[in-house]
Amino acid sequence: MGQNKFRTKIMKRQLQRWVSDASWMVHRNSFQDQEYISCVEDILDSSVFQSMNQYIQHGHTTCLEHCVQVSYLSYRICRLYGLDSRAAARAGLLHDLFLYDWHTVAKETGNHFHGFTHPRVAMNNAQEHFTLTDKERDMILKHMWPLTVIPPKSREGFVLMYADKYCSIAEVGKRVQGGVQRRVIRLAAGRS
Ligand SMILES: [Fe+2]
Ligand SMILES: [Fe+2]
Repeated sequence: MGQNKFRTKIMKRQLQRWVSDASWMVHRNSFQDQEYISCVEDILDSSVFQSMNQYIQHGHTTCLEHCVQVSYLSYRICRLYGLDSRAAARAGLLHDLFLYDWHTVAKETGNHFHGFTHPRVAMNNAQEHFTLTDKERDMILKHMWPLTVIPPKSREGFVLMYADKYCSIAEVGKRVQGGVQRRVIRLAAGRS
């Protein structure tokens, strides 16, 4: 086996081990990573980013928490593979900066296509408040691929797209798990 192939196999194994360890989901880990913080400090400190904490993304996870998780997972994967981890960290934090409650938006505004439209809303909001590179703009705009037709231009964009789906499934899974647990507790207490 060539040295490069061997290295890739080891990296893949490391990555699988790291992703299956749920501790990264606790975003406090990312706040202790000084290298990560130095890439995104201005975004984390901004009031527009912090305002995402009022909106629920999935289950009990707010949009802010979801974006931190997606950002840190994308950052770690890109760092492991020698990709642009700074772009991953920044685009990850901003990819869902749509700033509304998507659960009620259809009723309130008649927009039934949040899944298709929110990447552009997030990109426009991000552009208004922060300086973005072309790569970061593209990553935000294409993160819902293949729901939106055009795929990301960069490898970092694909990492962000996968990290977003992974985190979303984990967040929904936690909600389902929580629901099942509550049901079991009710049954055990004779309150089915
Ligand atoms: Fe999204
Ligand atoms: Fe997302």
